[in-house]
Amino acid sequence: MHTVDVPASTPYRVHLGTRLLEASGQIIREAAGGEKVVIVTDSNVGPLYAGIVEQSLVAAGYEAFTFTFPAGEEHKRAETLLAALEFMAERELDRRDVVVALGGGVTGDMGGLAAALYMRGIALAQMPTSLLAMVDSSVGGKTAIDLAAGKNLAGAFWQPRVVIADVGCLGTLTPEQFADGCGEIVKHAMICDPELFCALELTPPTYDYLVSGGMARIEEIVARNIEIKRDVVAADEREGGARKLLNFGHSIGHAVEACAAYRLGHGTCVAIGMCMITRAAVRAGACAPEVLARLEALLGACGLETACSFSAEELYACALHDKKRRGGAIDLVIPHAVGACSIETVALEDFAALIAQGEKNGGNAC
Ligand code: GLY
Repeated sequence: MHTVDVPASTPYRVHLGTRLLEASGQIIREAAGGEKVVIVTDSNVGPLYAGIVEQSLVAAGYEAFTFTFPAGEEHKRAETLLAALEFMAERELDRRDVVVALGGGVTGDMGGLAAALYMRGIALAQMPTSLLAMVDSSVGGKTAIDLAAGKNLAGAFWQPRVVIADVGCLGTLTPEQFADGCGEIVKHAMICDPELFCALELTPPTYDYLVSGGMARIEEIVARNIEIKRDVVAADEREGGARKLLNFGHSIGHAVEACAAYRLGHGTCVAIGMCMITRAAVRAGACAPEVLARLEALLGACGLETACSFSAEELYACALHDKKRRGGAIDLVIPHAVGACSIETVALEDFAALIAQGEKNGGNAC
């Protein structure tokens, strides 16, 4: 069992361990109070875990309801958000009540935004069940839905009152979903923790490793990643500066997601984005070739791809909708070494050239 305290504008605690679904009602009561709770979950996670959480909430004295939406990034949109808000209003939640976002990144983003909007903001408990949501999206207060023009274009910063991550849930992921979370773990190591990177190289985290006795070490890795995320968001809650480092691999990664019509996982696309921007940095002389070799080898060992079949032109067209674009420029995270990256503002023409340089067969061979 680990706890990590996040000193955000409204501080909160992350609880990480096993059998926390069963204990969630009391933890939420202590962190958030209130009388009614709406669990927001999706059609994959709800049938597995909503009943256990609902029972725990009722045992802790809550009146609990579950709003279930169809799983998938394509449902992280205004219609689903409005349906969740109507569901909360029909059950007469008031300002003292609580939303529990139970699921992966899509659920956390959408349930979080529903909590931020309902009656101008009510208490939120994040209960991540995917590896990606545990190590990244449940911590830091970002909430959003997608618009037709792009991913996460409508959202709010809304800090949870508590995060409850039951690592037992990782056992019901598919190997691909587990690998998807590894994309964000490797990202954290690349931006600021070379020791973690070496440890991951020695024993890469995989689903097979998890289910053959590796749960305790995976919990340690998740805890370290939550600490990294905590340190970054504590220094820059609203992404005015250092938090942009967490976008390593994301400008191209979001473009890969859009080109793939959101059929590939976020962490899977971030892995491709990290390799492409690192390849471009190597070709520009900003990063040693060994860094790219180590990054590709580690991501491969985690079961992730290091390149995609979309052309540089297709990726650039999708990347133009990225939030990190500001007029004719975009903020990019450029790797220099394992554990050392910088934020650079790059003109859009140069970004197009970097995407081309990031293709496996682009630019000069390296
Ligand atoms: N996932 C990036 C961030 O939370 O800022």
